[in-house]
Amino acid sequence: GSMPARRTPILDSTLQLALEGYGWLPNRRRRAGGDVIHARLMGQPTVGLCGPDAARFFYDEEHIRRHGAIPEPVQATLFGHGAVHTLDGESHRHRKEMFVSLMTGEAITRLVDRTIEEWDEAVDSWVPGQPVTLFDETSRVITRAVCAWVGLRVKDDDVPALASDLVAMVDGFGTLGPRHWQARLARKRREEWAARLVDEVRRGVAEVEDGSAVDVVARHRGVDGKPLDARIAGVELLNVVRPTVAVCWFVAFAAHALHRWPVFRARLRSGGAAYTEAFVHEVRRFYPFAPFVGGRAVKDLSWRGEPIPAHAIVLLDLYGQNHSPQLWPDPYAFRPERFLDREIDPFELIPQGGGDPRTGHRCPGETTTVALLRALTPRLAALGHEVPDQDLSISLTRVPARVTSGFVLTPGHSRL
Ligand code: HEM
Repeated sequence: GSMPARRTPILDSTLQLALEGYGWLPNRRRRAGGDVIHARLMGQPTVGLCGPDAARFFYDEEHIRRHGAIPEPVQATLFGHGAVHTLDGESHRHRKEMFVSLMTGEAITRLVDRTIEEWDEAVDSWVPGQPVTLFDETSRVITRAVCAWVGLRVKDDDVPALASDLVAMVDGFGTLGPRHWQARLARKRREEWAARLVDEVRRGVAEVEDGSAVDVVARHRGVDGKPLDARIAGVELLNVVRPTVAVCWFVAFAAHALHRWPVFRARLRSGGAAYTEAFVHEVRRFYPFAPFVGGRAVKDLSWRGEPIPAHAIVLLDLYGQNHSPQLWPDPYAFRPERFLDREIDPFELIPQGGGDPRTGHRCPGETTTVALLRALTPRLAALGHEVPDQDLSISLTRVPARVTSGFVLTPGHSRL
């Protein structure tokens, strides 16, 4: 129709998005003076939405599909081609069940216990006075734990390179510079490795524990009743391992918060489980990680009177919503207390997507993420360490954002 055409600006904003990062959607919204923005990305009509009602609208399959929504550079780095992220309807739900089935309470506890073991071992190996980079250390700790958990055998010597590849896949999705090419290479290497393993498990050459993620993914059958293509199975195995390692982003952010507002160190040490959980939610709300999620309009739609043409790209502003003053009074203040006596609505706090993870695209690893952070943040708060001079800035124009220095700390002689 002519209306949608009029709303979509002629000028493309792809470059602007790359320059403004997390601020791009919120800035546009401010200029537009409303909840909805019309733009053009990669030449295509794009509509940006924000807020719990918009999230409800976005996660309705009658409105938004994922097929054809994720740009090739993001698939080639972050998720992998053919990943669950790109599926819709019955094939999505069927594949999604496989992920959800891996994240039982008991399985998560095993992962957390293993992570704590690896963490304690790493911390014990630190030499007083010798600086360590928390982001890198944590990426290796989680890599060890999650590989053992999913049933991937990785030699000790191979852990640093694997951890660095898994981090690279996340780190390079939002840019087209050198970080992006590193991410493509890392993914190519690791997809081949994972597909080979799947193939070996299927041929009975490699042994793997029953019920482990490797086993489940290797034996999973699609809606067509056929096993997944080995490459896709490898992609999905990486879709468990990679984002679990990415929890190191939040660990570095948590350290940043504890350093910047030391009052929370004491509260984390004495506040008990409810306080720790509130702290973890505030870290996930406050710090920038996933900027937005995107889909395509299934048909001509309208949202609060604004037209959304069929096939338009629709973006839900995760970062913007997590900093909306209507939802979070004083949104740029770090205040774990805001979560102490608050029910968490599935469409309000959305650092890992909104809605129901079993039926929609919401992250199936959110409970796992929270469980890992519940275990690790009190341990962070208990470290006896110094924070030497370094660049602790977090640039909102770098997607994904991270603490620039990676958070360097110098272990002291005492651990509390
Ligand atoms: C989906 C964020 C950890 C597995 C997502 C989405 C986001 C997200 C924003 C997209 C939601 C949507 O498309 O609507 C994060 C963040 C994490 C994290 C910030 C913390 C580091 C995990 C973990 C796992 C995981 C630990 C697995 C153990 C997945 C999968 C999907 C997904 C498989 C695709 C779901 C689908 O399309 O149905 N995540 N995630 N994530 N996440 Fe996570």
